[in-house]
Amino acid sequence: MAEELIPADSDEAAAAAGAEEEEQPIKQRKNGLYPGVSDELAENMTSGWADTELRDLEPIAQAAHTADRRAALSARFPGERLVIPSGNLKTRSNDTEYAFRASTEYAYLTGDQSEDGVLVLEPQGGGHRATVYLLPRSDRENGEFWLSGQGELWVGRRHSLAEAEQLLGIPAKDVRELPEKLREATGPVRVVRGHDAAIEAALTDKVTAERDEELRVNLSEARAVKDAFEIGELQKACDSTARGFEDVVKVLDKAEATSERYVEGTFFLRARVEGNDVGYGSICAAGPHATTLHWVRNDGPVRSGDLLLLDAGVETHTLYTADVTRTLPINGRYSALQRTIYDAVYDAQEAGIAAVRPGAKYRDFHDAAQRVLTERLVEWGLVEGPVERVLELGLQRRWTLHGTGHMLGMDVHDCAAARTEAYVDGTLEPGMCLTVEPGLYFQADDLTVPEEYRGIGVRIEDDILVTEDGNRNLSAALPRRADEVEAWMAALKQG
Ligand code: GLY
Ligand code: MN
Ligand code: MN
Repeated sequence: MAEELIPADSDEAAAAAGAEEEEQPIKQRKNGLYPGVSDELAENMTSGWADTELRDLEPIAQAAHTADRRAALSARFPGERLVIPSGNLKTRSNDTEYAFRASTEYAYLTGDQSEDGVLVLEPQGGGHRATVYLLPRSDRENGEFWLSGQGELWVGRRHSLAEAEQLLGIPAKDVRELPEKLREATGPVRVVRGHDAAIEAALTDKVTAERDEELRVNLSEARAVKDAFEIGELQKACDSTARGFEDVVKVLDKAEATSERYVEGTFFLRARVEGNDVGYGSICAAGPHATTLHWVRNDGPVRSGDLLLLDAGVETHTLYTADVTRTLPINGRYSALQRTIYDAVYDAQEAGIAAVRPGAKYRDFHDAAQRVLTERLVEWGLVEGPVERVLELGLQRRWTLHGTGHMLGMDVHDCAAARTEAYVDGTLEPGMCLTVEPGLYFQADDLTVPEEYRGIGVRIEDDILVTEDGNRNLSAALPRRADEVEAWMAALKQG
């Protein structure tokens, strides 16, 4: 099959057909212009296909929520046209593309994940009229469906515009008409930048970076408080992630025989089977790699006696991700020093989680966890006290390295464009979800700590929902306390 169709689809065939022919509709250039495609075959391929239109579709589960989100956005930008693209495929090499992941802003407002889609909110009356612009189904008559690399015969069936309307609850139009419409549009416009160069080019004379950034910031801040649908998805993400961690524990012997890649591949299987993907590159860091915060090469050995720091999260089909870390003894038992360090991080996390409640300052959980870690570092003689002096000078940061958490949602570092006053200087509210993830990291070449500390890294990370009266740990299915971790590992290895 590939033999026959590749010439017509390839760059070589396009070049052979000539640049002029590239400009023409496929129907006009099919006869004799494609090597390996006879006129008879070209004609034959236009007919004999069943009507597969889907009718009476139910709206997707989040349709009511996306309508509320669009209404909130509309209220913030009255009288302005708002353009929110999904993004395009990105070339990896030649005609091979990276896996597509719709922009968070677009998916948040539509529930759709199509590449090349664009949501437009057009001012109407006191509010806006929403339209989602999508690539319609491939045309069978002109050969697009099998002669174009983006034809459905190659990439799979898309929803028709009528189907998309029913599913999303938003009127749908052909996205190929949108650039022209945008060029002709009058009145104030804003676009979410960075996803679709062609859409931005169509608006280049109408938008400013500053005004577009205000739109991005607004959408980032709007996502801070999760609705009921989102909380359900985050719980699903955490539950799948817990199962992925169990999968890893069960195959630690295979990882020992191979490398950290076995851990990565094992978790990835769970993410792809139960969800859309991993929400970020899994950090599968054994031994001293645990002290590298974003260790994603995952090509090192997994050795009995060392720790495995696994930081990984399943992203659900609706694009909500977990972000969970456990630091596990590869042979099932923490050594005395590993346990001392682990317990310090555990105590710091307990203090951090206890500081997560409505009305608390966002910074409180970080400060609470840092204080506990600093007390231990002073107690162990690694830094000279008193604790207040160390905290004031930030000397603990040589070993604590990073902030104690971040907002979590569709992006692992969610709400990243929010203003400082709305985020790190802000106040926690019910519905916010954040990670609490203190750590201690003693680099292998850190001459300021005793030799036995060197190469040990510990992080414990959970996903904490702010509730009306406190918090709920969405990733509580995974044990955290050292003795519970050991018992859990022993049970999984036996089972
Ligand atoms: N996995 C990245 C982080 O914990 O922030
Ligand atoms: Mn993490
Ligand atoms: Mn995190």
